Amino acid sequence: MPAEERYGASGDLVVRHARVLPMAFGGAVRGSPPTLPEVPDGAVAVVAGRIAYVGADTDLPAPLRALPTLDAAGRAVLPGLVDCHTHVPFAAWRADEHAERLAGATYAAQQGGEGGRPRGIARSAAQLAAAADADVLAFSHHRLGECLAAGTTTVELKSGYGLQAAQEMRLLALMQRLAAEVPQRVVRTGLFLHGPPPPPGREAWAQRVVSELMPRALAQGLLDGVDAFVEAIAYRLEDAVPLIEAAQRAGLATHLHAAQLEPSAAAAWAASRGLTSVDHLDHLDPDGVRALAASPTVAVLLPGATFLTGGATRPPARALLAAGACVAVATDLNPGTSPLTSLPEAAALACRLFELTMEEALAAVTVNAAAALGLGHEVGSLEVGKRGDLVVLEGDEPALLVYRLGHPAVETVVAAGRIAYRRSDGGAKAS
Ligand code: NIG
Ligand code: FE
Repeated sequence: MPAEERYGASGDLVVRHARVLPMAFGGAVRGSPPTLPEVPDGAVAVVAGRIAYVGADTDLPAPLRALPTLDAAGRAVLPGLVDCHTHVPFAAWRADEHAERLAGATYAAQQGGEGGRPRGIARSAAQLAAAADADVLAFSHHRLGECLAAGTTTVELKSGYGLQAAQEMRLLALMQRLAAEVPQRVVRTGLFLHGPPPPPGREAWAQRVVSELMPRALAQGLLDGVDAFVEAIAYRLEDAVPLIEAAQRAGLATHLHAAQLEPSAAAAWAASRGLTSVDHLDHLDPDGVRALAASPTVAVLLPGATFLTGGATRPPARALLAAGACVAVATDLNPGTSPLTSLPEAAALACRLFELTMEEALAAVTVNAAAALGLGHEVGSLEVGKRGDLVVLEGDEPALLVYRLGHPAVETVVAAGRIAYRRSDGGAKAS
């Protein structure tokens, strides 16, 4: 029987003799985390999918020593990573558009469709509409498998390539299928205001989303949160306000894509209204920094998009951290601006492009990313009662995660107490 079936098949598992970094700070980290607390020879036990013990290996209670055991042999163990911003499901890549940008085209101009060829979000919508459900699912499964192998145990999925009601509902149904089929915990966001609206246009679509689409999705139990792309080439803040307010009344998580391509008042507004997160922020201004520092709204930075679109402007990450904002990092996995599936790679880019320290980057892809989804009570740190999600790195040094660019330094991934991924070259010893 393969080890994956024997060890932790029931959601019961104990990882022993690990350098455990629980990333438990009593909630999301504002500004820079202190030195990362660690248990040098630690154990993490998971019973029925939930964490039952985190502490010194010598103090592991006797009954938990009888669980299926993974000997980490001194390797670092971190919470399962949380990717709080992806655009899965989609049907195909758009690498040729990247080549066009490398030759001088701009992302914003591509959204208009250049030379009569479909480009940008509208092209992904056309690819999606032309693809069979089975093909979209197969493509998305491969991407989520890549995310898993890089350590992601919680992943947010956004709709948004539907661009009209029937296709958006189809995407939400596909997200539901993926949620049932992948080992990760899936969070479902309706990105209802994204690309070109259907006739008669932007304002009518924004109203219809609130009066019809969101209530239908909610009635079918398909939604954890909503999002809107607020940018000159997409939607205005006033288009998004009724959607965000309706979602807050319904108790959903609320997100905005803001200040990606130009300065905007959207981030400060989001902070003042306590949205769950505001994402991108490459062009965030000092007012936005101050507003975020004074609010629970998480600032989600997406270095893959900054890097792949060649944006010369960087989000003011150091100013956000110095002011005490809560900063997360995500892949933004999408075919237009960020084909990254690896959260460690996103964290590594954030360290160099946005000047995060290793400690800040690790908090940004664990405990703070959980807060960016409103899931701080459930995932993002190794604490008794939380979901039994963890990663065993390939060595004892946590910095491996932001160092081994192009190769996730992740050896074993445990999701809800089950071994969900094991690197093929062996790894931590199971017994
Ligand atoms: O987060 N900016 C809006 N949405 C995506 C890109 C969508 C696309 O180009 O397909 C993003 O960068
Ligand atoms: Fe995005």
